[in-house]
Order: sequence, then C-alpha cells, then structure tokens
Amino acid sequence: MNIPMPQAKPLTQDNSKLQSEVIGLFKSGDLKWNTGGTIQEKKEGLNYIVQGLRKMQLWIEREYDAEKRKQLQLQYDARKEETCKRLEALEKYEKGEIVQETSGNGGSNQQQQKKQGEKDTKSELSNALSEAIVKDKPNVKWTDIAGLDAAKSALQEAVLLPIKFPDFFEGARTPWKGILMYGPPGTGKTYLAKACATEAEGTFFSVSSADLISKYVGESEKLIKTLFTMAREQKPSIIFIDEIDSMCGARGEGQNDASRRVITEFLVQMQGVGHDDKGVLVLGATNLPWALDTAIRRRFEKRIYIPLPDVQAREYMIQNSLKKTKTTLTKEQFEDLAVKTEGYSGSDISVLVRDAVYEPVRKLQSAKKFKQIPVNGQLKWTPVAENEDGTPKTFMELSQGDIAIPDVCYNDFLLALKKSKKSVSQDQLGEFERWTKEFGQEG
Ligand SMILES: Nc1ncnc2c1ncn2[C@@H]1O[C@H](COP(=O)(O)OP(=O)(O)OP(=O)(O)O)[C@@H](O)[C@H]1O
Ligand SMILES: [Mg+2]
Repeated sequence: MNIPMPQAKPLTQDNSKLQSEVIGLFKSGDLKWNTGGTIQEKKEGLNYIVQGLRKMQLWIEREYDAEKRKQLQLQYDARKEETCKRLEALEKYEKGEIVQETSGNGGSNQQQQKKQGEKDTKSELSNALSEAIVKDKPNVKWTDIAGLDAAKSALQEAVLLPIKFPDFFEGARTPWKGILMYGPPGTGKTYLAKACATEAEGTFFSVSSADLISKYVGESEKLIKTLFTMAREQKPSIIFIDEIDSMCGARGEGQNDASRRVITEFLVQMQGVGHDDKGVLVLGATNLPWALDTAIRRRFEKRIYIPLPDVQAREYMIQNSLKKTKTTLTKEQFEDLAVKTEGYSGSDISVLVRDAVYEPVRKLQSAKKFKQIPVNGQLKWTPVAENEDGTPKTFMELSQGDIAIPDVCYNDFLLALKKSKKSVSQDQLGEFERWTKEFGQEG
C-alpha cells in the first residue's frame, strides 16, 4: 500500500488546527471501531479514520520541517495499512465469511456486550489521555524562574505542602483546588507549570484544548470526565490546562452547544459534587483572562498575575542563562543590561541572550585576521579586528580544534539589543492591570 509522497510545499503556516482535527478524527474513529457493536457503527468509525487520513495528507503537504514531514509520513503509512486491514475484515463480516460472535444471542448477552463496550470506551478514553500524563520531569527548577516570588510561593503552598504534609490541611485549612495564572505572553506561565511538574510528587496531567476538544457530539465531555476520574484515581495529582481560554471562553449568544456543554462538564467536575476532590489541583494558564467564562473564573479560587519581569528579575534571568557560557561581563554591565531591557518579557530576554551569544560565532565567520592565544596550554586562533595585528586568514581554513571562540562581551549584547524588540505593548499591560484590580492577585 505505497502512497506516493505528497509534494511538499514549503509553506510556513500554522498547522495546529489541522493537527487537532486529525487527532480528533482518529480518536473518534478508533473509539467507534473498538466499541461499535454493529457493522454500521464500525463503518462510521472507519469513515472518521479515512477523513482523518485525508486531512493528514494535507498536513504532510503543508509541513515545512522535513524531518517532521518524514515522521508524519511514516505514521500515515502505518495508519493507512491498519485501516485497509480493518476494511478487509469488515468486508468479510458483511459477506458472512466471519460469523459475528454475538449475532442472534439473547438479551443478557447483549447487555454483557454493552457493559464490555462501556468498559472499552472508558479505557479507550483513558488511553487517549494517558499521553497527557507527564512522565519525564521537564527539569525546570524553582531557581530557574526569575522573580515571580508570590506566584512561586502560592504554587508551593498549593502543590508541594499538601502532598508532603497532608495532616496540616485539615478542617478549614483546605488546600487550593484551582489556581489560574494569567499575564502577557512569554512571562513564564507555562514555565512555572513545568517547575511544578518537576518539583511536585504525584501525577501531573498536562492537557491542552487539542487533547480535550473533539468535534464529535458528546466526546469532549466524556474526555473531560475521564480526565478528572483518572486524576482522582491517581491522586495526589495536578491537572494543568494551558491556554484555558480556548476551551472555556464566555458562554454567550454566538456559542454553539458543544462548547457550552464542555464548560458545563468542567464546572461539574471542578465543583466536585459527589466525589472526593481532595488531592486534585487544577492549574490553568491564559493570556486572555477576560475571555474566561465567569463561572469558570470563580472555580479558580486563586488568580495570580504573572507580570513582566522587573529589573532584578531581568538581571537574574540574563545572568542565569549565561551560566554555562564564558563571558567577560561585569556586575555593572549586567545591571546596565537589566535597565536597558525595561518592558521585555521573559521570552524576549531569552531570545536576546540567544542572539548575543551568537555574536562571537558571527565574529568568527566574518573575521579576516586571526591571532594565536594560549588556551589550557595550547595555542589557538582567535579572530581580531581589522585594525589590529594578526595573520590574514578565514575561519574556513581552520579546523575546529584550533579555534578559540571569543567570550561573550557587553558589546555583543548592545548589538543584539539594537535588533531586538519588545513583544508586549503598553496597552496590553493596562488591560491586565485593570483585570488584576478587579479579579486578581499580584504575582
Ligand atoms: N520568569 C522567568 N524566568 C526565567 N525564564 C523565563 C521567565 N519567564 C519566561 N522565561 C523564558 O521565556 C520562555 C517562554 O515562557 P513561557 O512559555 O512560560 O511563557 P508563557 O507565559 O507561557 O507565554 P504564553 O502566554 O504565550 O503561553 C521560557 O521558556 C523561559 O525560557
Ligand atoms: Mg504558555
């Protein structure tokens, strides 16, 4: 069953929508195939999968990254082969070559089958969600996070203490059940959640709306329900929902039934009526807090503003990200850079640092003269400016072992600063501050 490799058109567009459609179609298809009791239901299941395959083909065509495209093609081929086998099996069923085990049996058998079906559905849904459980710790420590002290201590209070010292949390001192982190993009919300996953014991579920929203009626609710059931079974656990606004936007006129039901299911699950919710924390992150449904907002008892880093946090961030790189920067120069990066977000700063540490490599590439310097008792070539003394050479004439890359210096940062831009506008900040005054808490 060899399908010709689709012509790759290098388009840089975002394929995440296609991706979530493909995942949704496959999930629904598998579910129907595995649990459907009749040929008709199995056929419907295969139909979804075939639709998914078509979309996947489109996705492969649009995928810009060659390596990813190759992987996708492999997955596609495997899926296609499996689907063909299923189709053949179904045809045999229809022709009567294989007798259906349950045909013509009494009611009790049908009931048994139904029960089995329910069980399969549940395990199928759990399987779909098992990928959301973070098994490998992301290796982000609290100390990697600059500033945000209030947010860190609130999370530690909610995440670490109740697990480590459950006896402290009795009576009125109940642990937080819902924490929402909100703030401008790139300020470390997802990063903080990763630190929680690294430092917290227990099960960490990390889900996004692509995992939970399915196009098929009723399935999103079931997924959400299963998620909470799994979290309760494996407690203590943390459910982290990134970009929660895309799933729990305000219920209103323009909204369809499906998203209203998703929100309702969420409300029910977070409220925890009829089940013991101790040991389950829901952690949400968003950069559009005002878009959240008001009832959902209330379920997040603690709402923490994750602002842009202040001057100390910026200095710490720059220094910390240069920990493993040789630099000639002095304390004063670090302080100066922190002042110069006023208004930058954490991710703007990490981009700036990455750009600055590339400068020595650029210097190497463009140098026309080199001189020899001793490094660990060995003479190595390092680039010099054109007006300085040195041997005319290009770096292509040298081998890696003979080159000493210059240390990162203050000037490299000045060059990088000229090219870099802030990503958060003053207007946006104003909106966050207004919302914080009304509903939030400073982080
Ligand atoms: N406080 C911080 N300390 C250290 N690094 C930070 C901090 N904030 C952001 N960063 C850096 O910026 C990167 C992006 O941060 P992150 O993905 O957490 O942003 P976010 O707040 O989730 O943004 P978005 O709202 O767009 O999802 C991180 O990987 C990290 O390198
Ligand atoms: Mg994020």
